[in-house]
Amino acid sequence: MTDIVTALAETIGEKSVVTDHDIVSSYLTDWTGRFRGEAFCVVRPVNSKQVRDTVDLAKRFDVPLVAQGGNTGLVGGATPVKKAIILSTKLLSGIELDHDLQLAKVGAGVTLSALNAEAQKAGLKLGVDLASRDSATVGGMVATNAGGIHVIRYGGMRRQVLGIEAVLGNGRLISRMEGLEKDNSGFDWPSILCGSEGTLGVITQLTLKLVSVPRHRAVALVALHTLSAALAVMTEARRRLGGLSAMEFMTSNGIELVSNLDGAPWPFNNIPSISLLVEAAGEDDQMEKLAYFLDSLEDVVDAVMAGDSAADGLWYWRESHTLAISRKGVARKLDVSIPIRAIPAFVDDLTHLLENDYQQVKPILFGHLGDGNIHVNLLDVAEGDTGIEHRIYKMVSTYGGSISAEHGIGRAKVNELALTRSQDDIESMKSVKSALDPASVLNPGVLFV
Ligand code: MLT
Ligand code: ZN
Repeated sequence: MTDIVTALAETIGEKSVVTDHDIVSSYLTDWTGRFRGEAFCVVRPVNSKQVRDTVDLAKRFDVPLVAQGGNTGLVGGATPVKKAIILSTKLLSGIELDHDLQLAKVGAGVTLSALNAEAQKAGLKLGVDLASRDSATVGGMVATNAGGIHVIRYGGMRRQVLGIEAVLGNGRLISRMEGLEKDNSGFDWPSILCGSEGTLGVITQLTLKLVSVPRHRAVALVALHTLSAALAVMTEARRRLGGLSAMEFMTSNGIELVSNLDGAPWPFNNIPSISLLVEAAGEDDQMEKLAYFLDSLEDVVDAVMAGDSAADGLWYWRESHTLAISRKGVARKLDVSIPIRAIPAFVDDLTHLLENDYQQVKPILFGHLGDGNIHVNLLDVAEGDTGIEHRIYKMVSTYGGSISAEHGIGRAKVNELALTRSQDDIESMKSVKSALDPASVLNPGVLFV
């Protein structure tokens, strides 16, 4: 009897099926190094037909199929739980811009940086931006409903998708690529597939909205004593800082780790308990506006500012967190959402829990304050200890938050979903899953147990 790898090679061509052990193994570990899987082969389709053939064969042979983009996810969502075929979307390429309508038709495997490099020629960019921009693919960003650093201004990935093409787990090809701003003719596939983490379909192409690149921007790094003071800055910025485009917070543990990378000198004499990065962007010069805004605030201990291209120097402190943490070990990455007003109380409770019961654990908290999104990274957690995550997620649920703000559930949080989604909710999601992927070949073990 033919095996799955031979059948794939015969159907979509040997060139598109990789079995070389060294190459395959580079797809088997996630970015964090925490999750590993096994694969029969890696398939690299170049068009939707090949994707469809791959899905059909996975069904026929009853073999799991895991779609993988830039492999920059942080919850193991693109690393097989059971031995699988990995479908790399990287060769699903092509960028077609419509300058006037500010749209891009893009292959799912195009990286964010490649899309922006092309869009930049017309003064445009995608509204969503994140530190892994050089590797993260637009298909993966939609599959995980990526958030990033400008959600406060442009919203997350779901708000950028005007059209989608995907092969569903039932083998059907959905193609709604026209980019209609309005389309109420039934279910909205971009909304259904966005955030589905490869469990309903394999995204092959997208029509994405673009935004104009603001001519000027200014960034301030602000030193503060407390998170409550940071929230007060945010409330004022929402009210009075017209060009507000990012509001990110960092804590002293994270700044210390980034300082150890020796990439740049920390601009203040001391490391404050809270550092806030505030960005404003617009058509006119933003430096004066931002300086005026900061001058009017009471709780600011210290601040430095940089404009336009020099602003990247200040972003370095925020964007190097993930790398700096990974240099210290494999962190437990809890990416949670907390109702904004409750953030200081949540962080106090979390600090007490760790001080009382987990003294050896080093927490690094940072994230997108404007979105109520805290990245709780924990270093030095005892191997095999999952209790710590469960206790923190439970705490999140008592605050009315979510156990995943932007990274997704993946396989990391699959046993915790019921903490912040009801049974009716989960069962209804499972009904959607079994309707669109009846044989359950797409990413089994991710999102649902
Ligand atoms: C970020 O915002 O830098 C990443 O989503 C966070 C992380 O590494 O936990
Ligand atoms: Zn983030």
